[in-house]
Amino acid sequence: MRDIRTADGDDLDALRRLETRCFDLDAQSRRSLRHLLTRANATVRVVDGDDGLLAGAVLLFRRGTRSARLYSVAVVPEARGGGLARRLLADAERLAAARGCRRLRAEARLGNTASRALFAAAGYRERACLPGYYPGGEAGIRLEKEL
Ligand SMILES: CC(C)(COP(=O)(O)OP(=O)(O)OC[C@H]1O[C@@H](n2cnc3c(N)ncnc32)[C@H](O)[C@@H]1OP(=O)(O)O)[C@@H](O)C(=O)NCCC(=O)NCCS
Repeated sequence: MRDIRTADGDDLDALRRLETRCFDLDAQSRRSLRHLLTRANATVRVVDGDDGLLAGAVLLFRRGTRSARLYSVAVVPEARGGGLARRLLADAERLAAARGCRRLRAEARLGNTASRALFAAAGYRERACLPGYYPGGEAGIRLEKEL
């Protein structure tokens, strides 16, 4: 089984490639990825493949709250269906709990059935609808799990 590790500045190009392969409208820019990699309150977790990254997850922490936020989770098309996203979610939950967080929050596009099924299977509740939340105007669903 492939290890999950914390990304660093050397992973910037590979992360950008992962983003463009996994997202259309929601791909993060190099600039915002660089920011995430250097922020003290963000952790980027990745899984290496033979030729670049297979998957990644971005976890955000905020001072003064016991909630962490799973900002994104992405798996390259050829590695999907093998449990990588499920493992990244469990890893994020473990890291959040280790930092004293009581819950993990995330958002998904209303029409992203794979993402909503992933979170539902991992015990996340759909808490709220967020009209017009995403670029392009699609609604979002706020998801939450007590850790
Ligand atoms: C959503 C995504 C991360 C899932 O990654 P994955 O590694 O294929 O997911 P896993 O194999 O870990 O699946 C875990 C569970 O999620 C659900 N699931 C995942 N993909 C699914 C799909 N296409 N349809 C229905 N359920 C799905 C299933 O319950 C699955 O469990 P099962 O295999 O026992 O049925 C991946 O499709 C992806 O990167 N999509 C593009 C980016 C994106 O939309 N990210 C999420 C929003 S930030």
